[in-house]
Amino acid sequence: MFGFRYYTPTKVVFGKDTELQAAALIREFGGKKVLIHYGGGSVVRSGLLQRVTDTLTEAGIPFVCLGGAVPNPRLSLVYEGISLCKREGVDFLLAVGGGSAIDSAKAIGYGVANEGDVWDFYDYKRKPAACLPLGVILTIAATGSEMSDSSVITREEGLVKRGCNSDLCRPRFAILNPALTLTLPDYQTACGCTDIMMHTLERYFTNGGNMEITDALAEGLLRTVMRNAEILAADPMNLDARAEVMWAGSLSHNGLTGCGSSGGDWMTHKLEHELGGLYDVAHGAGLAAIWGSWARYVFRDCLPRFRQFAVRVMDVAPEGTDEEIALKGIAALEDFFRRIHMPTSLRELGVSPTEEDLAVMAHKCAVGVGGSMGSAKRLYEEDMLAIYRASM
Ligand code: NZQ
Ligand code: ZN
Repeated sequence: MFGFRYYTPTKVVFGKDTELQAAALIREFGGKKVLIHYGGGSVVRSGLLQRVTDTLTEAGIPFVCLGGAVPNPRLSLVYEGISLCKREGVDFLLAVGGGSAIDSAKAIGYGVANEGDVWDFYDYKRKPAACLPLGVILTIAATGSEMSDSSVITREEGLVKRGCNSDLCRPRFAILNPALTLTLPDYQTACGCTDIMMHTLERYFTNGGNMEITDALAEGLLRTVMRNAEILAADPMNLDARAEVMWAGSLSHNGLTGCGSSGGDWMTHKLEHELGGLYDVAHGAGLAAIWGSWARYVFRDCLPRFRQFAVRVMDVAPEGTDEEIALKGIAALEDFFRRIHMPTSLRELGVSPTEEDLAVMAHKCAVGVGGSMGSAKRLYEEDMLAIYRASM
C-alpha cells in the first residue's frame, strides 16, 4: 500500500428537484455575483436554465450567462469568459451541464484568479495559485468533473487538448438530479458510462500498492455501471438506473477508487485526448475505441491485475493460464462496449487517420506526458504509435 491524501471537499446534493437549491448553495459558499456557464443549448431546450435563473432572480443574486462550451471545450471561449467575469465583477461560477461546461468554467476560474495566460497551466508552464469558487448542476453522468480536480481544455491553435490538475478547482457543491439526464441521447449515455468505468479502470490497472478495500469499491462500481448501462441501453427512461450511474460517475473520479495504489495508469486517457483534440470525438467513445488495443499491449506487464479483473468483474471462469484468463477478460469488456453500441476500434469510431496522423498523435501524446507514462506498463512514443496502429 502507498500512503495517500484523499480530499473531496464538494458538497453533494443528490435527488429530485435539487437544482432549485442552487441559489441557497451559492449564498452558503459566499457567491455575490455569478457567471452561469453552459454548453450548446440542451439546458435551454430542457428548461433547466430558465428554472435556475428564476431561482437566482427570486433570491436576489445577480448573474450573467455564457453558453457555448462545446464537447472538447475550447480555449477561445475560456478567454471570453475570463473577460466577461472581470468586466462584470463575477466572484462565483455556476456550471450547468456536462464535463465540457464544468471544465470550461474551471479554466475561467483559473484565468480570473491568476495573472497571465491561463493556457500556461494547461501547458505545464506554471501552476495556478487560486481559482474562483465553482458550483455545478450536472446534466450528464460521465467525467466526474463535478468532484474532480481536473479540467481539460483544447487550444484551437495546433488542436492541443491538455488537462490541468489542482485541488483548487474542485467544485464547492455538485447538484446531482438524475432526472436531468433523462433527455440525453443514447449515444451520450453510453459514452458517459464508458468514461465512468474508465476512470476506475485507469486506477485499477497498476503495478503496486493495491488495497483490498479499494479493489472491492472499484469492482463493485464497475459491475454496477455495466449492469445499469445495459438497463439504460434498453430503457433510457429508467430513473433508478440513471441514479446509479450518476453517483458512480462522481465516485469514480473523486479519488476514492485509487486510494492506496500507485496513482493509476492513465495512458488510455492520454491516448484518447489526442484523438479528441484532432478529431473532436466524444471522449467516452474515444476511450472505448482505444482501450482493447492498450490492454492487449500492456497486460503481460500487469498480469495479476488483468487476471483479477477478468475473474471478479467480467465473471471469467478461473480456468487455463493467467494469460488466457486475462485475454478473456479484455474480450469480455469489449463485448460489453459493443452491447451498449460503443466502438472498439478507430474505424468504428468513424475516424481514419493516415500513418502520418498516427505518428503525429503519438508524438503529441509523448510530449504531453513528458516522454513516457503508465503504471501497468510504462509507454514511450513508439509504444503509443503501436497502440494507435493496433486500434485501427
Ligand atoms: O452542449 P449541450 O447542448 O449541453 O449538449 C451536450 C453535448 O452535446 C449533451 N448533453 C449534456 N447533457 C445533456 C445533453 N443533451 C441532452 N440532455 C442532457 N441532459 O451531451 C454532449 C456531451 O456533453 P459534454 O459536457 O461534452 O460531455 P462530457 O460530460 O462527457 O464531457 C466531456 C469533456 O470532459 C473531459 C473530456 O475530455 C471532454 O472534453 N473530461 C473531463 C474530466 C474532468 N474534468 O475530470 C475527466 C475526463 O476524463 C475527461 O477528460
Ligand atoms: Zn475520462
